[in-house]
Amino acid sequence: MRVVFLGAPGVGKGTQADRIAAQFKVLKISTGDLLREAVRNKTALGLEAKSSMDQGKLVPDSVVIGLVRDKLTDPGCAKGFILDGFPRTVAQAESLGQVLNAAKTPLNRVINFQVPRADIVKRLSGRRSCPKCQATFHVDFAPSKTGAACDRCGEALVQRSDDKPEAIETRLKVYEEQTAPLIRYYGNQRLLTDIDGSGPVDTVFEALFGVLAPFHAV
Ligand code: AP5
Repeated sequence: MRVVFLGAPGVGKGTQADRIAAQFKVLKISTGDLLREAVRNKTALGLEAKSSMDQGKLVPDSVVIGLVRDKLTDPGCAKGFILDGFPRTVAQAESLGQVLNAAKTPLNRVINFQVPRADIVKRLSGRRSCPKCQATFHVDFAPSKTGAACDRCGEALVQRSDDKPEAIETRLKVYEEQTAPLIRYYGNQRLLTDIDGSGPVDTVFEALFGVLAPFHAV
């Protein structure tokens, strides 16, 4: 299974990527998680990426493409992968296509999550994340047991710096300008499947499962 999860910030890509990766035992590759890890570790890449991320802008293509190329060589990818939040520009999509075609492992599907804007803003502003294990919660829709600590590892939950109102606005604008063109790009390649992401997590998962199960052994 080789799949891309596409969609605006907050549509539930990461939540569903975790569940699909566990269900089908494939690797989840989230460029957002990789970049946040680099920021936490204060690597040169992290230092370069931090200010763009805090403002809700995209990190330069060259940086992100390099990260994903490295990850795709991970032996864990042989069983399949879910790319969560990559590609986000046409240049990234073209570069991904070149890498996968050269390895004769083309994408099976691109899932386009659709959620109304008002719901997206509620989801992002109420999200709480674990800085240690990356688990994601929501103060209303998916609260942790204590509200303050991660259910998985006990670390104190935080609000992401880009989940503040001004950064959310910028991220939604950046999505429309730079990422939404990928809907047509992958539509033209007949790879796109739209999924209604506005229902409860379990309902969205069932719909996704139905679309992706045929690619399980591919
Ligand atoms: P990234 O981490 O990828 O952020 P994003 O795409 O903006 O996506 P999010 O993580 O905000 O949302 P999501 O769709 O995963 O939703 P989630 O499941 O968490 O990127 C962050 C930054 O890194 C970017 O702004 C950019 O700077 C940089 N970056 C990353 N990739 C890049 C790239 N390729 N190129 C350049 N720069 C890049 O859910 C959100 C909330 O909703 C959670 O609280 C969750 O519990 C809740 N929720 C989920 N599903 C449901 C549901 N069905 N019902 C109710 N609540 C739900």
